[in-house]
Amino acid sequence: MKRKLHFYMDHNMFLILVAIVISLQNPCLVCGQECRLIGKFDLHGFVESKNHELIIGGMFPFHFRTILNNDTDMEEPKSPKCEGFNFRALRWTRAMMFAIDEVNKRRDILPRITLGYQIFDTCFTISKSVEATLSFLTGQNETHPNFRCSAGAPLAAVIGAGGSALSIATARILGLYYFPQVGYASSCSVLSDKFQFPSFLRTIPSDQAQSKGFAELVTYFGWTWVGTIAADDDYGKYGIKVFKEEVEKNGVCIAFSETLPRIYNKETIDTIVKTIRTSSANVIVIFSSDIDLSALMEALAETNITGKTYIASEAWTTSALIAKPQYFSFLGGTIGFAIRRADIPGFEQFLLDIHPEHGTDDLVYEFWEEAFNCTWPTQRAAFYTNISIEAIVAGRRRNISPRLCTGQEKFKDILNTYTDVSELRITYSVYKSIYTIANALHDLDICVPGKGPFPGGACANLLDFEPWQLMYYLKNTKFTVFTNESIKFDESGDVEGNYDILNWQWRNNETLSFIKMGHYKSKTGGFDLKIDNSSIFWNTPNGLPPVSVCSNSCIPGTRKGIRQGEPVCCFDCINCAEGEITNETDARECIQCPPDFWSNAHRNECVLKEVEFLATDEALGITLIFLAVFGASLVIAFTVIYIMYRETALVKANDRSLSFLIQVSLVCTFMTSILFVGKPEAWSCMARQTTLALGFSLCLSCILGKTIVLMLAKRAAKLKKAEKTSSINFTPMYQKIVAVTGLVIEVGICTAYLILTPPWVYKNMESQNIKIILECNEGSIEFLCSMFGFDVFLAILCFITAFVARKLPDNFNEAKFITFGMLVFFIVWISFVPAYLSTRGKFKVAVEIFAILASSFGLLGCIYVPKGYIILIKPERNTEEIVGGKAATNDKSAPATSASITSEINNTTVSTVVLDD
Ligand code: TRP
Repeated sequence: MKRKLHFYMDHNMFLILVAIVISLQNPCLVCGQECRLIGKFDLHGFVESKNHELIIGGMFPFHFRTILNNDTDMEEPKSPKCEGFNFRALRWTRAMMFAIDEVNKRRDILPRITLGYQIFDTCFTISKSVEATLSFLTGQNETHPNFRCSAGAPLAAVIGAGGSALSIATARILGLYYFPQVGYASSCSVLSDKFQFPSFLRTIPSDQAQSKGFAELVTYFGWTWVGTIAADDDYGKYGIKVFKEEVEKNGVCIAFSETLPRIYNKETIDTIVKTIRTSSANVIVIFSSDIDLSALMEALAETNITGKTYIASEAWTTSALIAKPQYFSFLGGTIGFAIRRADIPGFEQFLLDIHPEHGTDDLVYEFWEEAFNCTWPTQRAAFYTNISIEAIVAGRRRNISPRLCTGQEKFKDILNTYTDVSELRITYSVYKSIYTIANALHDLDICVPGKGPFPGGACANLLDFEPWQLMYYLKNTKFTVFTNESIKFDESGDVEGNYDILNWQWRNNETLSFIKMGHYKSKTGGFDLKIDNSSIFWNTPNGLPPVSVCSNSCIPGTRKGIRQGEPVCCFDCINCAEGEITNETDARECIQCPPDFWSNAHRNECVLKEVEFLATDEALGITLIFLAVFGASLVIAFTVIYIMYRETALVKANDRSLSFLIQVSLVCTFMTSILFVGKPEAWSCMARQTTLALGFSLCLSCILGKTIVLMLAKRAAKLKKAEKTSSINFTPMYQKIVAVTGLVIEVGICTAYLILTPPWVYKNMESQNIKIILECNEGSIEFLCSMFGFDVFLAILCFITAFVARKLPDNFNEAKFITFGMLVFFIVWISFVPAYLSTRGKFKVAVEIFAILASSFGLLGCIYVPKGYIILIKPERNTEEIVGGKAATNDKSAPATSASITSEINNTTVSTVVLDD
């Protein structure tokens, strides 16, 4: 790739520039003459580049870490060395070699050329990966940016660099040159960003899919309280970030969120262990590579924390570093996502076909020594020097076995991750990466000039193409591998998310195996999650799926109450208030019952409110009816007596027909009280108050008719005393007119009331929540007041007139009794008011009935009982003389008064008041 430089210059400078440009055109000249090697990397790996037309670069983590150099500033800095041999990575590397081998042998892909490889160890560190990347770009020995000096076949593309953090670092450099890079294990979602990583493609799905899958899994099992642990790199952090975002949409809360240290740190590990132990979350999602996680697992193995279920990200799901039998007690039942696996035919044999003596790659020596726990006697050392084997062993930095390797060691004698082909997942991904590059190169090769994709239909030359040209083919390549899986990349350079869900189980009580319990596939705009519940082993005491919630769900009848300052998943269950219910679990709000309904005791159902009224079949109602009927019968009994004794003086006195009317009205008021009992209906509401008012008004106006006469008699007596005038005329006709007028006025008020604002049945729900009180709404209070006000007015008149006439010297002084009657009437109704106002529901009605009955009984008692007493028990006093007060009664010591009131009933005879003294 050429760089354009812009300068403003004068003439002399131009000459200098020409010299520079000439030297730039010949980079090796630059290297030889004017450049100095700034540093040399200590890179290890595998090369096979001779006799090949094109080379594919590879980056694999053969070691777990670099050894921290403790060089002083005074010494020349050295590229760090690596330690901890990673057998798994060697298997991945062998997959690359195997795939390249296969492609080279195939006739249908790239028949004209063969591919070679150059593979570097990244030591699972960013610095080594960057070293490797620079070496790819410039050649192994010329660490000189922008030029590839080393002779040999050109580098077509690079695969790797394993972990996402490494790929991100390398992709930033390779992206500068638009140099094709195909990731086989780097799944971090950030790498999908083509703005930052324009030349990065991958054969492993993006973690976006995996994190979403985790969220769905957690939701599927109803876990709402989960802990998370992330590796301290892009993979862990972004994976957990997306998981949290997704899971929070589903109302799941994060109990704790821990980060694993990159460099071993006991305190941090101990705090994480403590958090796991103390947390109430039983499900823990771990996004980390197996390498970073192993320290934590070791620490966990020392404690006996059980009952937790771990959700494994694809990087450690099937890792032999973690899936150790001794960890099974706490890791059994782990659920992990794993990328697609495949059985690659012939690969196992290819793996076994490795031997230090077959090549010169020093990594193979190290592998052999690590695998068989022996020391390889370096040929040179043994042959050229007299140094003893012990000295060789001692001279090695790694402290490995003093036993010497024979070269005859057999793989079948050992259990090694390298030879384990049961879970070829990343291995298969490496295989696909190589095929992706090979297919793209093939597409580039078969381009027909004139029909090519580049300007003017141009094609690229397979042996001399620009990186961006291959990039074009890579992005658009589409092919099917032997497993029938078709590979194509979307615009972000990703393949579709397709995962197996594995469950860690014990097999035959000795080996840990990964049982496929489900499948997760991300689709555009959705996902497809399949889980076979019966195949899952749960490492819980009861063998049932773990429960991981902060608070148990709220049963119907209760609602969730937030706990201040705690996540939404932690809540208290609060009982619904009266009249409110919830009929679902975990309700956020209680629902108000509809107007006619009320909550039941459990607050999970709205039940019809009890309708309350004074029923005819309850004790109170029956008693009241009985009293009313009794009262009415008593009145009727009096009427019968009156009729039987109609010709006697007492009956005849002061207008028989008025007395009769009073009796009628009393029957009427007694019976009206029955109207108040029973379910209120429109008609009974209308009838109640009006008949009562009419009854009373009739009664009172009749009484008034009587008392007026008595009062007039009194006044006449007074007048007579003064002027000796003999008589005043007040005919019974007038009495009746008074009675009728009273009634007519009341009828008028009642009619207006019924027409204008008739009462109606009203469901009173305000006064009591749990009941509907069925009552009569009286419509207009004004009318009601005027109706009864008129009665009160009549009563007051009656009282006044009767009071005036009370001392009438009559043997049977009706006025006195009427005064009593009126007093009783007032007392009853005055006490009625507070009693009525302070009761509720049906008792209000009962109070009113009591008042009606009491006042009616009062009137009955005061007006008719004394008369009945004389008529029935003292008939000897029932004479004209005694009644009229002309003769003395035997129980009266006072001389007989001379006032007499005589009423002629049958005709319109003048009623005369005669005063004798
Ligand atoms: N997916 C991991 C990442 O992006 C890399 C990875 C996958 C890995 N499988 C692994 C790392 C196994 C170590 C071991 O970082």
